[in-house]
Amino acid sequence: MTTKIKAGVIGWPIKHSRSPIIHGFWLKQHQINGSYDKIPVEPDELSNFISSLKQNGLSGINITVPHKIEALKLADLITPDAKAIGAANTLWFEDGQLIAGNTDAHGFITHLKTKAPTWKSDKPAMVMGAGGAARAILYALLKEGVPQIKLTNRTTERAENLASEFNKQFSDKISVIEWNDKQSNMDDCSLLVNSTSLGMNGNPPLEINIDTLPAKAVVYDIVYAPLETDLLKSAKTRGLTAVDGLGMLLHQAVPGFEKWFGIRPKVTDELYQLVVDDLEKDA
Ligand code: ATR
Repeated sequence: MTTKIKAGVIGWPIKHSRSPIIHGFWLKQHQINGSYDKIPVEPDELSNFISSLKQNGLSGINITVPHKIEALKLADLITPDAKAIGAANTLWFEDGQLIAGNTDAHGFITHLKTKAPTWKSDKPAMVMGAGGAARAILYALLKEGVPQIKLTNRTTERAENLASEFNKQFSDKISVIEWNDKQSNMDDCSLLVNSTSLGMNGNPPLEINIDTLPAKAVVYDIVYAPLETDLLKSAKTRGLTAVDGLGMLLHQAVPGFEKWFGIRPKVTDELYQLVVDDLEKDA
């Protein structure tokens, strides 16, 4: 009998996480003697929890809100991606050291390339939102070589702070656009990304007219509940490529699973549908 490999996801609260469905699917598919559980960890307990990962038999964990920034400080080593993004979502051990990584940028860009294979990174992009998700998206797009990113956020100051932080690393590629001016600034963008929580079930709608986006533009909404947001509906109505947010969640899970369980899993239609069915239970 092999020893059971244990991993999980920590957050506070954690009950809505879909990660156990994703990792549970792959564990079963690959017949691995392993488990992946939701673990509620209060902010006050984070440091103790992370320092006793090994004692508790865990090979690693995913980290979600509100621990993504704090967790960086508690690891032995930080990957370049996690350092640049300023947050960790995946922890694993290498040579006895605890590594903090961030796979959100990987998830974002892999899903974009899968769903919009003709998208090229040679034109400006517009990113709406300046929260935690925006950080990984900006990093992914800058690493991909996008020449200019127009960043817009309800609170302009937050966008300015984020832009100045990234502009130090990526030679002034981000310019800040006032929230009310976004529509008049998208006519040269080949990609529009919503990284705000607007349009999510229970939240206000994202009010935007995308008529001025070029005819071949891609519209990517990281909101995945509902799966087809009003923004994606209007993109489809215009005949633009619409990219939903669920694939980012699925693809970000791949590197963690590989680190803990030793097999690089695949994002398949079957897995996608399994998570969609679960989301529909809550709708
Ligand atoms: P996450 O880590 O998921 O990105 P977050 O840090 O709470 O979450 O960020 C949420 C994003 O949605 C922010 O860009 C936020 O704008 P502010 O920085 O102005 O708060 C945006 N957002 C949330 N509610 C909004 C609303 N009603 N109108 C416009 N933007 C909104």
